[in-house]
Amino acid sequence: MKVMVIGGGGREHAIIKALKKSPKINTIFALPGNGGIADDATCVNIGAKDISAIVDFAKSENIDYAVVAPDDPLVLGCVDALNEIGIPCFGPNKAAAIIEGSKVFSKNLMKKYGIPTADYFVFNNASDALEHLKTAEIPVVIKADGLALGKGVIIATTRDEALDAVRSIMEDKVFGESGNNIVVEEFLTGPEVSVLAFTDGKTVVPMVSSMDHKRAGDNDTGLNTGGMGTVAPNPYYTEDIAKVCMETIFLPTVNAMNAEGRTFKGCLYFGLMLTPKGPKVIEYNCRFGDPETQVVLPLLESDIFTIMQAVTNETLTPEMVKFKDSAACCVIIASKGYPVKYENGFEIKLPATTIDSSIYVAGAKKDGEKLLSAGGRVLGVTAIGENLEKAIEKAYDLTKKVEFSNGFYRNDIGKRALKAYNN
Ligand code: AMP
Ligand code: GLY
Repeated sequence: MKVMVIGGGGREHAIIKALKKSPKINTIFALPGNGGIADDATCVNIGAKDISAIVDFAKSENIDYAVVAPDDPLVLGCVDALNEIGIPCFGPNKAAAIIEGSKVFSKNLMKKYGIPTADYFVFNNASDALEHLKTAEIPVVIKADGLALGKGVIIATTRDEALDAVRSIMEDKVFGESGNNIVVEEFLTGPEVSVLAFTDGKTVVPMVSSMDHKRAGDNDTGLNTGGMGTVAPNPYYTEDIAKVCMETIFLPTVNAMNAEGRTFKGCLYFGLMLTPKGPKVIEYNCRFGDPETQVVLPLLESDIFTIMQAVTNETLTPEMVKFKDSAACCVIIASKGYPVKYENGFEIKLPATTIDSSIYVAGAKKDGEKLLSAGGRVLGVTAIGENLEKAIEKAYDLTKKVEFSNGFYRNDIGKRALKAYNN
């Protein structure tokens, strides 16, 4: 089969490496892919948001199946456009991708169907929002309604910060049209868990849980990033909590989307917070997480393509999805200065990997035989171990062998997760 994967980051590299193991696939295209993905798939210089070029390419190459990985093309209706020309896809259609595309939609969905989440207010103009924030409890969380490259969430720890956030989102439009509406919500506390789940709209099969590390610096200091590392499984996510989440969050969400006439098929990402009052939804994503995918898929034992086809055909069963009883850690190496300002074009030399490790390339391009940095997050160094401690140790051993003079990484990925064992 000929498969194409839309996207060009570390997540897509991990998806492609997993797809490569499927005996059913003989050709993989990546649109646009990147300099590292080029070792595992044929990269085609078409942007992930260029839906008409994607459709033309799929037609001309007689593509059999498409995996649409990033949020933008999903929210823009890439799956609808490909389905229209008869190409089956992994990923939700536009109507369902709104679960990530609009925070106002997802918050209202949770309220309507009683799915636990932070209390919130929606505003469509700055003056009402500013008035509300004069008396709101602090800290408070302010979220732009639409997609904002993962930067549309501001946790205000002072009233002035909250007021500034509203002004910059709604008046200065720092996130463009994404900030026409905002959600102002209650600040929650507790360990965070990411759960990615396969769903065909009827059956929900959660994958192994994981933990992201969003801040740029050690001990969760510095600015928010797209994610500086992950571990799986997440030890805070016990079997009992998993049961509660299935009953109060996962199934109700899939059923709610059906009831709204927006059946979700694909990978539904639940960003959860385990609060003293039980698990609550922080965010939904309509896709695989990045860099969660870089620890979850290496632990998947089953053939991912069989699962994806079952999602498309609505024949998904829990038995199809088996995970190794091991742990994984992914350390992101980013360009110095990320997430603010950084330079590209530095040479990267990768060490050899083993059966238990992978280096996923997120932001790099090929220059002849050389690999040059070309992005904020550049590499995701993943290792599997028999337990979390071993996985972390192996991931850092490999990270230290990467030659990239302009790179930096956090030294404490997984440290918080290990603490769970001592509680
Ligand atoms: P998001 O971009 O929605 O993933 O949010 C980024 C981060 O902000 C999350 O991973 C949480 O750490 C934090 N966050 C979002 N909403 C809340 C909330 N209501 N209370 C506390 N922290 C939050
Ligand atoms: N790691 C968070 C995300 O993929 O949005």
